[in-house]
Amino acid sequence: MADLDGIKVEKNYHLDKPFATGGNFHVKGAANLDWGMKKRLTNIFNPKSGNTVMFAFDHGYFMGSVSGLERLDLLIPQLIDHVDVLMSTRGALRSSVKPGFRKGLALRVSSGSSMLNDDLSHEVVAMDIEDAIRMDADCMAVQCFIGADGQLSSIENLSRVINAGNRYGIPSMGVVAVGKNMERTAQYFKLATRILAELGAHIVKTYYCDDFEEVAAACPVPIVVAGGKKLPEKEALEMAYNSIKGGAAGVDMGRNIFQSYHPAEMADAVGKIVHEKFSAKEALEYYTERTKG
Ligand code: 5RP
Repeated sequence: MADLDGIKVEKNYHLDKPFATGGNFHVKGAANLDWGMKKRLTNIFNPKSGNTVMFAFDHGYFMGSVSGLERLDLLIPQLIDHVDVLMSTRGALRSSVKPGFRKGLALRVSSGSSMLNDDLSHEVVAMDIEDAIRMDADCMAVQCFIGADGQLSSIENLSRVINAGNRYGIPSMGVVAVGKNMERTAQYFKLATRILAELGAHIVKTYYCDDFEEVAAACPVPIVVAGGKKLPEKEALEMAYNSIKGGAAGVDMGRNIFQSYHPAEMADAVGKIVHEKFSAKEALEYYTERTKG
């Protein structure tokens, strides 16, 4: 059609080109942020690799005591030295984690539903910014339900948290939530991650999918990939490897670490992929070597 002549309609993610506005800072999209923001992002993302191993144990905020997280006071001390960041609720931290730990902290600040609800998409901001400051959070995590019934409240929650965090130099992490009946496609994750980044999230957490490279390329801030339900170690390490290869800046893994028979060794194996360019095969060999016998 003549009236479409000259209109560029096909998408091009320029997968062969690195992110262009990195400046001299190692975190994607953060070159123009303030000193305090950069300091906190550096507590999350290793300056050498640019990546992070977050350990998520915030499941209790809507799932209660899931398998593997029955005793936080016993589990967390075993794992602190093996990960870069703890992702937790304030209640779990204050009650069960010694305050002297020297790792990053991603604080879960949204909540509002439980496993008893059919629709989990309606949340509120459950923490004041002052409490995140008191707990020395390196970022605040908000669950976001794009395309779900609770989309509007999700976007309001994330925006409120970003606005408050920007006042005090605390980054925000938008967490792409995937409901039971929602598709896990690149098309959906491109939409959801980009919306969260454009709202001002400094980090986006999402899931791995086919064509993940396009999801990562189109998101102007770092993506950390959620672990999801427990997989055999081989498959979980392959997912971590494919995520990093596809442009993720790390993983935010829970069940694939704490439901492993060897959580510390599994966290170390994931770290080898995330920070030391191990292949999935090398990481599995590393894990197997350390857990045999
Ligand atoms: C929920 C979350 C949780 O932190 C995350 O799902 C837990 O990690 P995993 O799925 O790897 O057990 O953000 O959206």
